[in-house]
Amino acid sequence: MPKRIYITTPIYYVNDKPHIGHAYTTTVCDVYARFMRFAGREVFFLTGTDEHGLKVEKSAQARGISPQQLADENASEFQRVMSRLGLTFDDFIRTTEPRHVEQVQAMVRKLLDTDAVYLGEFEGWYDEGQEEYHTETKARELDYKSPVSGEPLVRAKEDNYYFRLSAFQEPLERLFQQQPDFVRPAARRNEVLGRLREGLQDVPMSRTNFTWGVPMPHDPGHVIYVWIDALMNYITALGLGEPDSDAYRQRSKYWPATYHIIGKEILWFHAVIWPAILMALDLPLPKCVYAHSFWIHEGQKMSKSLGNFIDLATIQQYVDRYGLDAWRYYMATHGPLGATDADFRADHFHSVYNTDLANTLGNCASRTAAMINKYFDGFVPAEAGPDESALAEEEGPDRLRMMIADHDWPAIAKEAVSSSTAAMEEIDLARSIGSAIGLVRKVDAFINLTEPYKLAKDEGKRGELGAILYQCLEAVRIASLLLWAVMPGKMSELWSALGLSIEPDAGRLAELAEWGGLEPGRRVRKIALFPRVDTLSVIEGAA
Ligand code: MSP
Repeated sequence: MPKRIYITTPIYYVNDKPHIGHAYTTTVCDVYARFMRFAGREVFFLTGTDEHGLKVEKSAQARGISPQQLADENASEFQRVMSRLGLTFDDFIRTTEPRHVEQVQAMVRKLLDTDAVYLGEFEGWYDEGQEEYHTETKARELDYKSPVSGEPLVRAKEDNYYFRLSAFQEPLERLFQQQPDFVRPAARRNEVLGRLREGLQDVPMSRTNFTWGVPMPHDPGHVIYVWIDALMNYITALGLGEPDSDAYRQRSKYWPATYHIIGKEILWFHAVIWPAILMALDLPLPKCVYAHSFWIHEGQKMSKSLGNFIDLATIQQYVDRYGLDAWRYYMATHGPLGATDADFRADHFHSVYNTDLANTLGNCASRTAAMINKYFDGFVPAEAGPDESALAEEEGPDRLRMMIADHDWPAIAKEAVSSSTAAMEEIDLARSIGSAIGLVRKVDAFINLTEPYKLAKDEGKRGELGAILYQCLEAVRIASLLLWAVMPGKMSELWSALGLSIEPDAGRLAELAEWGGLEPGRRVRKIALFPRVDTLSVIEGAA
């Protein structure tokens, strides 16, 4: 695995308010980015806003403000929301920033020079009122009249710049063969391949019917099509279009991207058009375009007309009621990372909170800490007791460990660390987090099996009692390291209850996750991480 990681979200349209979709994709990237930083990797995590295009121009007009004002307002709203959701992006790029605009122009100039972009003529049936072209088939269907005004469609011609996508048919097919993981999940890759095999046509890449965009070099009557401008954000943020810049010197090392995380609706642009542009620019291709599915809400697609969008106000209610980390946990473990949509249900959120967080993680940490307080005055007991016969057989440092009820805890913990890390590498958040929670479940089962509260009654079993409680707490500590990326606030709380000062940014996850890191004699406070939430107070209106 490469030491350096570059992960990106789509850049979000500024004519929309932030909602669960934006929060979700960015949270997925954040969990991965945090985990990898903790694992010692050099991570660059990018998000931002897509600010050009006719829709922004029109929304601004409707509000009587300039498109730049609208973009400024909403971009700062996106930034505010993302920071509040604990999202630790390294840069936030806006497509109206000069650094972006200048590099887009430089790269389009290069595409013109190499003939990957050319000036061509476009002809079709034009609806003058709607400023929209129709194909011959569609125009015939409409009886050559505007479906809106009823006025006749006119035959019109337009000069347009085109991107020579057709020239990349074979290279793209080869890419999909040679890099089977270029698009994930596999179901999405197959969809793209199917469409790719139907054949590629050149695509228009400039517009003349509005002005809110990046002007075409040498031909400012044309603006660059917003998608071309937007896709380039992934490399303009690294300065790739400006090789003598500081940005290039500091950041070009992150290219190519490890993951472009996107929603499935924008896959074609990322899986076909984007690699073709990169090939035309002679740049390396991203390792993986990962297209997740959609959140739906209580069984229904979210839409403005249904008014059932999980908007910021609703997200805030969940955060207030269950805590930010619980929100992140639910996003990461039950989100639509796979090939099917995920249903956001208030009752499901509630039961996941209670099962995984209140009853498993919270309860296990609190009962272990409580027993240490009760039986050992809050001091972490040693793993080895005076009862020599129960000592493990092995030589070396392990010799002092008691193996109780056939539980080889160092091996169990090691397995959880490696499977959780491997799953995270693959961006399988649910599996990664599941391995950590699984470790906590094993601790619970171990407590139930060994019944330390009964051993406590027998003075002769003090060594064994201490070893059991050490092992429980140590396994919880290791699980907490694996869970920090998804629940940074709560896991830091846990660490401070254990008197540990851990700096995830120092990147020492593997070292800290070794068995035995918890020193006996350390003082442990009582722990209450996830208070129970009353069923009656499940978010109203969201159910
Ligand atoms: N501006 C383009 C992207 C350009 S990237 C070079 C765009 N913006 S968007 O504001 O519409 O954001 C789309 C993204 O939001 C999706 O790709 C996905 O990441 C996220 N989601 C929007 N609705 C969603 C759901 N219902 N569920 C999950 N994520 C979804 O498209």
